[in-house]
Amino acid sequence: MTARIIDISWEPEQALAEASARLAEGLPVAIPTETVYGLAADATNPAAITRIYETKGRPRFNPLICHMADLAMAERYALFDPLSRRLAESFWPGPLTLVLPLKTDCGIHALATAGLDSVGVRVPKGFAGDLIRRFDRPLAAPSANTSGRISPTSAEHVAEDLGDKLALILDGGQADVGVESTIVKVEGERIRLLRPGGIAAEDIERVARRTVERQASPAPTIEAPGMLASHYAPNASVRLNATAVRPGEVLIRFGGKPVSGADIASAVFDLSASGDLAEAASNLFDMLHAADAMGAGRIAIAAIPDQGLGEAINDRLIRAAAPRDH
Ligand code: TXA
Ligand code: MG
Repeated sequence: MTARIIDISWEPEQALAEASARLAEGLPVAIPTETVYGLAADATNPAAITRIYETKGRPRFNPLICHMADLAMAERYALFDPLSRRLAESFWPGPLTLVLPLKTDCGIHALATAGLDSVGVRVPKGFAGDLIRRFDRPLAAPSANTSGRISPTSAEHVAEDLGDKLALILDGGQADVGVESTIVKVEGERIRLLRPGGIAAEDIERVARRTVERQASPAPTIEAPGMLASHYAPNASVRLNATAVRPGEVLIRFGGKPVSGADIASAVFDLSASGDLAEAASNLFDMLHAADAMGAGRIAIAAIPDQGLGEAINDRLIRAAAPRDH
């Protein structure tokens, strides 16, 4: 099978119609979201969800995020406490995932939640939301990449990795945000950060008027089991907080700051020459992909500030540099 690729800006109606048809057949479809490309399937159809796990080679104890068209749709499947609802109203549609109690007999299949009594719910921006509204069922969608590899931020990334395993890839261009959604769980008065992502924890704190509790990072806890230590790994090995380039390395720097030995680097990328962390997040996976595509054996990465979206960037980089378990 070679995936058909439809450009959603040229053929939006065709894209919606074909994607809905494939989803109704129980096939996974690669779709653009504002964070990364997702491998979407009907969250109520066990055969369809099984195909997501098989296509990605993803462990089945790792639950999937269920994507909804809007808050009203999400309330059909999950129970909202007042604080979670406030966060949803402030940040949806957008890159925030809320872990919430699952409504019993709501239709989401246990394979999507890995049998948990909670569900990760997110309302994506743009085309993905339109597709869910059309399909009128939640879409389970992890990132559209082989498990453990870098998440795709373009249709080309998806096609290279999974093109021969999929029927359809929708091309929405370069993903805006570039890192996955922030995952939080409200527990009584507390808000726990299960995964830093495309919404800065500080922005959530401002709305919630309380501290968001970080966990030790990277935390290979079963509560966010997607976050196994080695994740987001490029083919190349990754060296963090580099202050000097070693022979044979590709350099990824930040903020236009010079790094000594840059002249011997096989290539130099800057995540954001102006030091903008949102721009850096949107470039991160694309630059890691590009370094891999050049056949770089080793990547040296300069230190990135740990505030705002820097928290998500550093989380992904720590995982990219972690010892490989596969
Ligand atoms: O930006 C994103 O969130 C992307 C795009 C495609 O929307 N999706 C994504 O989905 O990253 P996925 O399925 O790969 O993210 C799953 C993460 C895992 O870390 C998983 O453990 C956590 O969400 N998760 C899902 N359901 C959960 C639950 N009930 N309790 C705790 N963590 C959960
Ligand atoms: Mg992923």
